[in-house]
Amino acid sequence: MNKIFSFCLLLFAVVSCQTAENQPVIIELQGETLQMYEKGKKIFGEKCSSCHNENMITNSTGSALGGITQRRTKEWLRSYVRSPLAMLSNKDPQALEVQKNAVAVMQGFSNLTDEEIDQILLYIETNYQNNKIRLRPVER
Ligand code: HEC
Repeated sequence: MNKIFSFCLLLFAVVSCQTAENQPVIIELQGETLQMYEKGKKIFGEKCSSCHNENMITNSTGSALGGITQRRTKEWLRSYVRSPLAMLSNKDPQALEVQKNAVAVMQGFSNLTDEEIDQILLYIETNYQNNKIRLRPVER
């Protein structure tokens, strides 16, 4: 799974590249990575999108998740998604910080495997990078 997570981080490097026409690169996934993305998208739609905006940019009941893999470690994200409450009762500093401005405590998704959470993260970051590009105002 480490490979997949490094891939998430790599996305940020890829996106900062520019093509010859100075157009930013839209991330297009293939093969196994595309399958992971599709699985992540499905789980996100079923379990997360009611509170976290699918564009990954604007806040909803839950905050926008775009860029989350840069702000948090993989281990932190896996633990938090499975049980925010456990993180809060362990006085995890980042979990406490998140909770400060929150309108609610997120329920935990204890059934999600590491692999499924990594798929969700791949979906979040790919979608985020592509939406940032698509939604960016045209420069004149
Ligand atoms: C019922 C609403 C709700 C659902 C459903 C939900 N969340 Fe959350 N989530 C929240 C709230 C509220 C917070 C805490 C404050 C914040 O960051 O918005 C939060 C926080 C988070 C954070 C921490 C954000 C940070 O800045 O560190 C992550 C990561 C996260 N959610 C991921 C998920 C994922 C992945 C799913 C689906 C498996 C999910 N959430 C489903 C409401 C929800």
